[in-house]
Amino acid sequence: MEVRVFRNAEEIGQYASKIICDYVNANPSCVLGLATGASPVPTYSAMIAEYEAGRVSFKNVRTFNLDEYCDLPKEHKNSYYSFMVENLFSKTDINMDNVGFLDGNASEESESKRYAQAIKAAGGIDIQILGIGRNGHIAFNEPSDEFTDEAWKVKLTDSTIEANSIYFDDIPMPRYAMTMGICSIMRAKKIILIATGDSKAQAVRDMINGEVTPHCPASVLQRHGDALILLDEAAASLL
Ligand code: F6R
Repeated sequence: MEVRVFRNAEEIGQYASKIICDYVNANPSCVLGLATGASPVPTYSAMIAEYEAGRVSFKNVRTFNLDEYCDLPKEHKNSYYSFMVENLFSKTDINMDNVGFLDGNASEESESKRYAQAIKAAGGIDIQILGIGRNGHIAFNEPSDEFTDEAWKVKLTDSTIEANSIYFDDIPMPRYAMTMGICSIMRAKKIILIATGDSKAQAVRDMINGEVTPHCPASVLQRHGDALILLDEAAASLL
C-alpha cells in the first residue's frame, strides 16, 4: 500500500485526477471503476476541468460503477446512476453506451453473472476508485465474517443507513443494494482509495495498520499489489 497525505480534499482530487487523466491519455479505451459518495467528487471535478480544458477525452473510456441501490428506479435522483450523470458523465464526453452499472432491480444471481462477464469482456478494470465507510466498508461490503466474491445483494447496516439517509428527502432510504464483491474489486489492476475527514480516521487506521480481516473489509487492500491511499490530514490523524 502506498499512503499519501494531503492538506485538503481538493489537493487529493487534483492528484487522483492527474493519475487518471494521464492513464486515459496513454490508454484511451481503458476501463475505469467508479465510486459514488462525497470522497471522489473533487476528483471528478478535476477530471471535468481537464476535459473542459481540452487536455483529455473520455469518449472511448469504459466505466463500471461499484454499486447501486435496490428497489429504486434508475432515474430516481438518489440512484447512484443519477449521481454519476450529475457529477461526471453529463459534464464530459463519456459515451453513455460505455457506462456499466449494476441493476439493483434485477435478480441477484443473473445480475452478478452479467456484471462479472461484462467487466471481463472489457478486459478488466484498470483503475478502481474507492471510498471507505466509517466502519471500514468498501463499496457496500460491510464488516462480516468473510470476504465477498462477485457482485451480490447486501442488506445495508444501520451505520450506512444513518450516513446516507441525509440524501433521501422524499422517500425512505432503500435497505438493500447491489454491490461489487471484494474479489471483483481486488482484480482491478490499480486501486485508488480516497478518505477525508476525522470520521474516517479509525477506519483508515484499521485498514492500514490493522490485521487483514473481513471485519474491516478495506484491510484486504494490504494484499493488493498496487493500492494507493490518498488521505487528508484529518483522515490520517490516527496513523
Ligand atoms: C460508493 C461506495 C461507498 C462509499 C463510502 C464512503 O459507491 O461504494 O463505499 O465509497 O460509503 O462514502 P463517502 O465518500 O460519501 O464518505
